[in-house]
Amino acid sequence: MAIKILIVDDVTETRENIKRLLYFEKDMMIIGEAADGEAAVRQTDKLSPDVILMDINMPGMDGIAATEQISLKCPKSAIIIMSVQGEQEYLKKAMVAGAREYMVKPFSTDELVDTIRKVYDFEQKRRVQLSEPSIVRELQRDPQVVAIFSTKGGVGRTTIATNLAVSLAEETRQRVVIIDLDLQFGDVAVLLNVVPKRTITELIQDINQMDPELMESYLITHPTGVKVLPCPTRPEYAELITGAHVEKILGILKQSYDYIIIDTPPLFHETTLTALDLCHQILLIVSLDLPTIKNVKLGLEVLDSLHLKGKVKLVLNRSSSDIGIKVEDMEESLGLKVVSHIPSDGRTVISSVNKGNPFVTASPNTRITESIRELAHMIMQGEAKSQPEPRAEVKKGLFGKLFK
Ligand SMILES: Nc1ncnc2c1ncn2[C@@H]1O[C@H](COP(=O)(O)OP(=O)(O)OP(=O)(O)O)[C@@H](O)[C@H]1O
Ligand SMILES: [Mg+2]
Repeated sequence: MAIKILIVDDVTETRENIKRLLYFEKDMMIIGEAADGEAAVRQTDKLSPDVILMDINMPGMDGIAATEQISLKCPKSAIIIMSVQGEQEYLKKAMVAGAREYMVKPFSTDELVDTIRKVYDFEQKRRVQLSEPSIVRELQRDPQVVAIFSTKGGVGRTTIATNLAVSLAEETRQRVVIIDLDLQFGDVAVLLNVVPKRTITELIQDINQMDPELMESYLITHPTGVKVLPCPTRPEYAELITGAHVEKILGILKQSYDYIIIDTPPLFHETTLTALDLCHQILLIVSLDLPTIKNVKLGLEVLDSLHLKGKVKLVLNRSSSDIGIKVEDMEESLGLKVVSHIPSDGRTVISSVNKGNPFVTASPNTRITESIRELAHMIMQGEAKSQPEPRAEVKKGLFGKLFK
C-alpha cells in the first residue's frame, strides 16, 4: 500500500516542486494539498493521510498551530515540518506541538523520500505497540534490567540511557521503560522532551496498591513507545524514596516490560545500590580523563566489595577525543576491558537535545547512533538470566553494610 501524503504550503511553486520530487516514488501517493493551516486540518480530517508535509510560515493559521490541532484530532497522521534556514526557534515549538521530524528547505529528493519513509515506518511500529491489548502479557523472554552508572557526574549517563532505551525499542519492538533514579537532579524527561505530570513521588504514595495496571498511569509515553518514570519535580522530594520502593517498582515493571533501563546519580545512595543489586547488567560509564578514571576505580572497588563487579560492563564515552590517555592504560588500571566505545559527537548530541529528539532517531546515520545500536544489541544478547533475587545483604541494607 502506498504512503498517502498531504502537502501543506502556501507557495504553489513549492507544492509543485515536492510533487515533482516524489513523482517517481512508487510507494508514495500525493492525496491532497492545502495552502494554509485551516485547510490542512480540514483535509486531514477528510483524507486521513499517513504523512503530512507541513510548512511553518503560512498566512492565517500557521504550521505550528495546525500541527497542534492535527496531533490531537488525528494522531495517526504523522507530520514532517518544512522550514527555511533561520526558523530554528520554531522547530522546537513544532516538535513540542507533535511534529515527528523536520526538514530544512531546500532539500534533495533523497532527503525527502528517506524522511517520509522513516517517519511512516516509525508510525507503523508505534501503532503496533499502542495496540497491545493488555499490559500484562507473556513476555518473550526474561526481562533485562540495565543500570547506567558511574561514580563521576557528567560522563554521559543520561545521554546514553535515553538513547539506549529508544534504540532498544526500535530494534526489538518490545516494551521498554526508563526510570530516572537520579532523584534530585535527573533529566531523563528533559532529554526525552516529555512533560512529567506524575512522577515517582506520586507513585510511592500509591505503592501499597501498586500493580502493573496502576503503574501505567504513572508512566509517560514517549513518541517512540518508550515509557518514562520521571524523577521528582523537586530535589527535596528525593529523600522520600527508599530502596524498598525501588525494589517494589522494579518487581512490578518486570511483569510487563522486556527492558528496564535505569539512569542513576553518581552516588552510592540506598536507592542506587538497590537498583545496582537488582539489575542484570551495570553499564559503568567512563571517559578518558584522570579524575573520572580515579573515581570510577574507587567505585569499582566498592562494587567489588558488594560482589556486584561481575555484572559490570565498561562503556567508554567520548572515546574519540584525543586527550593523551590510552584506552589500554585505563583498562589496565581498572582491571576491565571496554565493551563499547561511544564516540564524541558534540554536534549530534547537542542538536538532538535542543530538538528534544534522541539522536538515535534524529540522526540515524551517525557513528554515535551506530555505537548505541551496537550497545543495544549487546544488551539484547545478554544472557536471559533468571531474575536475581534480592540478596540478604540488600534486605539488611547494602547502604548500612557499605558505610557502617
Ligand atoms: N558522546 C558524547 N559526545 C558529545 N557530547 C556528549 C557525549 N555524551 C555526553 N555528552 C554531553 O556531555 C554532557 C553530560 O552528559 P549527560 O548529562 O548525559 O551526563 P550525566 O552523566 O548524565 O551527567 P549528570 O551527572 O549531570 O547526570 C551533556 O552536555 C551531553 O550533551
Ligand atoms: Mg544524568
